[in-house]
Amino acid sequence: RDVICFLILLLDLFNRPHLLFANCSGLDLIFGLNALLRTSENTWNSTNAELLLKYCESRQYVMSWELGNEPNSYEKKAGIRVDGYQLGQDFVHLHQILQESATYHSTGLYGPDVSQPRDHHKDLLTGFLETGAKAITACTWHHYYVNGRDTSLEDFLDPEVLDTLATKINEIVESVSPGKKVWLGETSSAYGGGAVGLSDTFVAGFMWLDKLGLAAKLGLDVVIRQVLIGSGTYHLVDDNLDPLPDYWLSLLYKRLVGPEVLKAQVLMNSGPKKPIRLYLHCTNRKSTHYRPGAVTLFALNLNKNEVTISLPAHTANSTIEAFVLQSAEIGQQNLYSRSVKLNGQVLKMVDDRTLPPLKGHELSPGERIKLPGFSFAFYVLIEAQAPVCK
Ligand SMILES: *[C@@H]1O[C@H](CO)[C@@H](O)[C@H](O)[C@H]1NC(C)=O
Ligand SMILES: *[C@@H]1O[C@H](CO)[C@@H](O)[C@H](O)[C@H]1NC(C)=O
Ligand SMILES: *[C@@H]1O[C@H](CO)[C@@H](O)[C@H](O)[C@H]1NC(C)=O
Repeated sequence: RDVICFLILLLDLFNRPHLLFANCSGLDLIFGLNALLRTSENTWNSTNAELLLKYCESRQYVMSWELGNEPNSYEKKAGIRVDGYQLGQDFVHLHQILQESATYHSTGLYGPDVSQPRDHHKDLLTGFLETGAKAITACTWHHYYVNGRDTSLEDFLDPEVLDTLATKINEIVESVSPGKKVWLGETSSAYGGGAVGLSDTFVAGFMWLDKLGLAAKLGLDVVIRQVLIGSGTYHLVDDNLDPLPDYWLSLLYKRLVGPEVLKAQVLMNSGPKKPIRLYLHCTNRKSTHYRPGAVTLFALNLNKNEVTISLPAHTANSTIEAFVLQSAEIGQQNLYSRSVKLNGQVLKMVDDRTLPPLKGHELSPGERIKLPGFSFAFYVLIEAQAPVCK
């Protein structure tokens, strides 16, 4: 439940290098077909998609499919009204075409990629699921916390803003039948291209890490990040190909956090409302560095004051490896930094091709966990011996 994917702007998809890029990076490629090619009866006209599928078959491309994007805006953006019920039937049509394909008969089909629920969007999703649920592998929707043109640093650190995601996830999950997977098909901090000076800086990490934690906790299997590179200010890699803070955060998350979510509870003994957010997973078992049973705690401190985290007695003796991320700059402007420190060292590429080692800092036995103000961190409890993580 922790897979992060990236939305990549593919200007020239069918140039093989892009598929090679996906393959070399271990990413899966999902291609969005055009749902706005319609017949006079306002059903989807699949002629063009069938040509495209034949071409991809002839090249044996490994990929899966979507049909359309944010159908709730079709009327506003394209002057075409498609209701959920019809869209579901369009997906069934595409599913049939895929089933007849020698290459794509068991490939994934994801949709409807609705933007986050507001009243009439919900009607669209409900109608879609009535007719189309059987055609899709996972139900996708999009989420942004705030409008990029109209937000502030305070929003990025506000527990109430972060909590709005839980409400939206619960609304979506309730409308989807049990057993059907739900994915965040496109998501980032702020819509409208991101928030200038915020979405590509250290402070964006609070929204990103909290989203990964909350989404997994509430049962979402995949979170697809808008965007890896290009387009807006919510990218992970800048135009110079240098990683931005959310890139480093994503990399650590993938290395240290496994898909199994464990229950964690914060008991605050003092201080203001909910500045500490905390999630607990099995440590990624693919990370050969740690022994079976290890768990990873990740925590966010949305407040300026350092906090001490005391673990329950049965885990208190475990060796802990800490990965604390802080802004690379100090002073007032620090949260707007485009650089990040891991355990005090600024992270940067060794050269064009080489990532730096991301080393944890081992706490002394019995040492308490201290999470600095305005930071987030991963703590691997190496000897936790959690049975479900073995
Ligand atoms: C990459 O290509 C190889 C060979 O075609 C294939 O076996 C493998 O599944 C591909 N990997 C991904 C992630 O698509
Ligand atoms: C579908 O679109 C194609 C052009 O791509 C056109 O030739 C065909 O007549 C259309 N079919 C319907 C039923 O509208
Ligand atoms: C933790 O270690 C201390 C000192 O070695 C020991 O007294 C204590 O029983 C241990 N606690 C647990 C829960 O294993």
